[in-house]
Amino acid sequence: MIEIKLRTMEKADWPEVADLIAVSTNNWYEKHGMAAIFPKASAATMLFCEVYEALDPGCCILATHPETGLIMGSCFYHPRETHVSLGIMNVHPNHFGASIAVRLLKFITDFAEQRHQPVRLVSSAMNLDSFSLYTRNGFVPQQAFQDMMLTVSDQGFPHMESGAERVREATLADVPQMADLEKSLCHIRREKDYRYFIENRQGIWQTLVYENAEGVLEGFLVSVSHPGSNMLGPGVMRTEDQAAALIIAHLQRNRGRSKIFLVPVSCHGLIKKLYGWGARNTEIHFSQVRGAYQTPKGVLMPTFMPETA
Ligand SMILES: CC(C)(COP(=O)(O)OP(=O)(O)OC[C@H]1O[C@@H](n2cnc3c(N)ncnc32)[C@H](O)[C@@H]1OP(=O)(O)O)[C@@H](O)C(=O)NCCC(=O)NCCS
Repeated sequence: MIEIKLRTMEKADWPEVADLIAVSTNNWYEKHGMAAIFPKASAATMLFCEVYEALDPGCCILATHPETGLIMGSCFYHPRETHVSLGIMNVHPNHFGASIAVRLLKFITDFAEQRHQPVRLVSSAMNLDSFSLYTRNGFVPQQAFQDMMLTVSDQGFPHMESGAERVREATLADVPQMADLEKSLCHIRREKDYRYFIENRQGIWQTLVYENAEGVLEGFLVSVSHPGSNMLGPGVMRTEDQAAALIIAHLQRNRGRSKIFLVPVSCHGLIKKLYGWGARNTEIHFSQVRGAYQTPKGVLMPTFMPETA
């Protein structure tokens, strides 16, 4: 087995890790006949280092070459109240298939075991390398999601949805209710993520909430707009109609952008509506969990930064 050294990422490593994320991911997609995911410049993927280090300092593990010190693989993880999430995992294409990811993964599953917590992630159904990496190491696929893309013209999004009047911008005072809603529907809690999105120090996040007629928070959806990620999510809602109202409210605020978002494949009504608005499928993802899991209720819209599932 190829020799590696495991160590924690430091700030000086950010440019090399950002480059690794772009090279590794793009190489994998291009090798499998698909388009590159990230722009070539590592400035876009630097976003992962910035966001993840702000949220969870010291929670990126690197595999380095024992002699040259070059970074061969990296993986971010996010300890939360109820679980540990596993963020983006990358190995340099020169070292694919050498069990480097297996060793990075073991570091994180050992960490979670010490905390007696499950590990959760989102993995592509089209990427058998990562699917197999996780299922061989104790993860169980739970829910399937369609990655759907909608492009909003410069003139705006022409469709309307009832319930839009119940959507408003989130404030920091909403954070405990958002965390409680996710706990009651999805059985996980991660209050600090929501505080981080709403504080929005980088100016790239937008968080909307859905309130019922009695003023009770029944759903929320976050959006990120950056060259490294243009997604809607994470989001949690009680109903598909609330999900539609939140999606459309975000699209109306995103003129001239293409947004990608993950929708549970079981949400027939919502998916039919999204096709009607012109949505196209771009990929399929599975949530995977290693350890205790309870089936979520309502609509869960996970994302990749930070990973939710
Ligand atoms: C996915 C990725 C991280 C895997 O890294 P890697 O270092 O090549 O993976 P490893 O060699 O450590 O592990 C793969 C494991 O899956 C197994 N595996 C791979 N394909 C398999 C298949 N079709 N069926 C069964 N097992 C398979 C391998 O045998 C290996 O297990 P082993 O070491 O116990 O034998 C790497 O391909 C990568 O960086 N891809 C681009 C970015 C990406 O897709 N990241 C994942 C996002 S979540």
